[in-house]
Amino acid sequence: MMTDVYQHVRHHGTINEFVDWADQAELPIVGIDNLPGSVPLETTTLPQNCVLLFGQEGPGLTDAARAGASMTCSIQQFGSTRSINAGVAAGIAMHTWISQWVLTNPDR
Ligand SMILES: C[S@@+](CC[C@H](N)C(=O)[O-])C[C@H]1O[C@@H](n2cnc3c(N)ncnc32)[C@H](O)[C@@H]1O
Repeated sequence: MMTDVYQHVRHHGTINEFVDWADQAELPIVGIDNLPGSVPLETTTLPQNCVLLFGQEGPGLTDAARAGASMTCSIQQFGSTRSINAGVAAGIAMHTWISQWVLTNPDR
């Protein structure tokens, strides 16, 4: 589908640069990972303006990334698999935000 053509890609060299950028843009960072202390995405209202942060396959969100996040949300899973891949998690989390903020507010 060449969706990359329609995306605005912004590279941040370090997590600290990313956190500073989000702070200046007044965008709270919402971490998405199933780490201890995460709150369930299914029952959490995401901020209307926010940036979602996903972890790397394998290690997940680093401690520095979590420290920069205003909250971290987990996606409920069933069965023995410890986690899903980052692309699947991103689709679920982005659609949750759409369900909370766009489907109920079509003017957005
Ligand atoms: C394959 S996971 C690796 C880290 C994960 N904490 C683990 O223990 O396997 C890669 C990324 O996918 C996302 N992810 C995978 N499963 C998730 C879940 N159940 N809830 C929230 N995010 C998840 C997170 O962003 C995570 O950093």
